[in-house]
Amino acid sequence: MNQKYYIETYGCQMNVYDSELVASLLQKSGYVETDQIHDADAIFLNTCSIREKAEETVQNRLSNFHHLKRKNPKVIIGVLGCMAQNLKDDLLESKPFVDVILGPDSYRKLPEFIHNRKTQMDHLADTRLSKFEVYEDMFPTRKEGVNAWISIMRGCDKFCTFCIVPFTRGRERSRTIESIVHETEQAVREGFIEITLLGQNVNSFRNPDGGDFPDLLEAVAAVPGVQRIRYTSPHPCDIDDKLLNVMLNHDNICNHIHLPLQAGSDRILKRMNRTYTQKEFLNLVDKIRMILPDCSITTDIIVGFPGETEDEFKETLKVVWSVRFDSAFMFKYSPRPGTKAVEFNDHVPEEEKQQRLERLIALQKSMTLIAIQKQIGKSMKVIVEKESKKSRDQWSGRTDGNTWVIFNKSGEKIKDIVDIKITDARGVSLFGERIQMEVTV
Ligand code: 5AD
Ligand code: SF4
Repeated sequence: MNQKYYIETYGCQMNVYDSELVASLLQKSGYVETDQIHDADAIFLNTCSIREKAEETVQNRLSNFHHLKRKNPKVIIGVLGCMAQNLKDDLLESKPFVDVILGPDSYRKLPEFIHNRKTQMDHLADTRLSKFEVYEDMFPTRKEGVNAWISIMRGCDKFCTFCIVPFTRGRERSRTIESIVHETEQAVREGFIEITLLGQNVNSFRNPDGGDFPDLLEAVAAVPGVQRIRYTSPHPCDIDDKLLNVMLNHDNICNHIHLPLQAGSDRILKRMNRTYTQKEFLNLVDKIRMILPDCSITTDIIVGFPGETEDEFKETLKVVWSVRFDSAFMFKYSPRPGTKAVEFNDHVPEEEKQQRLERLIALQKSMTLIAIQKQIGKSMKVIVEKESKKSRDQWSGRTDGNTWVIFNKSGEKIKDIVDIKITDARGVSLFGERIQMEVTV
C-alpha cells in the first residue's frame, strides 16, 4: 500500500508553490497525499521566518507533533523552508523528534532523506543555499482551482535591513523564459486560467539567455488560454515604463500592482535600505496612474521600525492618505536575528508599535472603503472562484484589480468569467448583479 504524506504550509505564496514542488517529488517516490495528519507516514511543515509570530506559530504546532511521534515512532516529521534554514541548530536541539530538516534550496534531497531516515537513526539536515537552484525541470503538483502559482525567480539581493529573506532564501537567480512559458502551457492544459508569477523580487527577473521581466510578461501573456496574469511582489525601484507599457498593451495582464511602501519617512526608508525616497515613491504612483488609470495599487507597510519617531510615523500616514491604496498588509516591525536592523539601539516600545498599527489600520480601512465605493455603478469582469462563505446561493470571484465580488448564483460554474454590475461596497468586498448578455439573432 502507498505511503501517505501530509503537508502544512505557512507564510507566503512562494511557500505554497514550494509545497506543490515537494508534493510532486513525494508522489514520484510513491507517496499519496492525505489531509488527515493521523493517517500520515510522513508529516511536513513548510515554514516561514518573516516575523517572530510566524516562527512561534510553527514552533507551537511542532510541539504537538511530539505526541504523534510517541504514538507512532515510525512517522517521519520534516521541517522545510525558511525556518529550517534559519533555525536548524535550534530545532535539532529543542525538537529532537524532527527527522528531516531541509532549507528552500534542498528539496531535491527529500526522497533520499526519507529513505535514509528509515534505515538510520540520525536526523538528516541540509540547509545549504545554492546560487543556481531554480527547480527548472520540476513541475509542481497543483490543487485544482482558478489560479496557478509559478515561481520565476528565487532569492533576494536587496538586503532591506529588516528582512530575513536574503538570509533564508539566498541570492537572486532566475529561471529561463522558455521553461516558465512551458510551465504556463502545462498549467493551462491542467485547467488553470489565471497565472501568478512569483518571486521575492519578481521584477528583478533576468532571463539567463537575455530578456527582462516585461519580456517574460509578454511571453506569458501570449500563451493561449491564459485569461489573467498577476505577479507579486515587485520592488518599486525595478518598475519602469517598459513594464507599465507591457501591462497597458495586454488585456490579460491584470491592472493591479502590489507596491510595497514599507515606510513614509525618508530617514526611515534610508535606514531600511529601501533605495527610494517618499517623493520618488509618490512620483512612481503618479506615473502608474497616468499610464494605467484604472490600476489598483496595494502595499505592505511596517510600523515602529527602529528609531521611527511619531513625526516619522505621520509621514507614513501622509503617504497612505495621499496614495489611497486599494488595500494594504500592515505589520509591526519584528526584530529578526541576523539582520542589520536588530543592531540599531533605538527600538520602538511594543505598546507604541501596537498603537501606531491600530492608527494605520483605521486610516487604511477608510481608504479601502473609498477605493471600493468608487467602483459602485461600474461593470466588471469577474472570475467565479468559490461559493461565498456567507451564503450557498452566492458566488465569490475576483476582479482584475484583485477585489472580491459577491453575487447571486444563476447557473454559473467555477472558472466562468462573468460581467457583474457593482451595486454595493462594504468592508473590503464588492457586491453586484450579473449582467445577462442579450443575445441578438
Ligand atoms: N517585521 C515586520 N514586517 C516585515 N516584513 C518583512 N520583514 C519584516 C519584519 N522584520 C514585511 C514587509 C514585506 C512583507 C512580506 O513582510 O512589509 O514586504
Ligand atoms: Fe525582504 Fe527587501 Fe528582499 Fe523584499 S526586497 S524580500 S523586503 S530584503
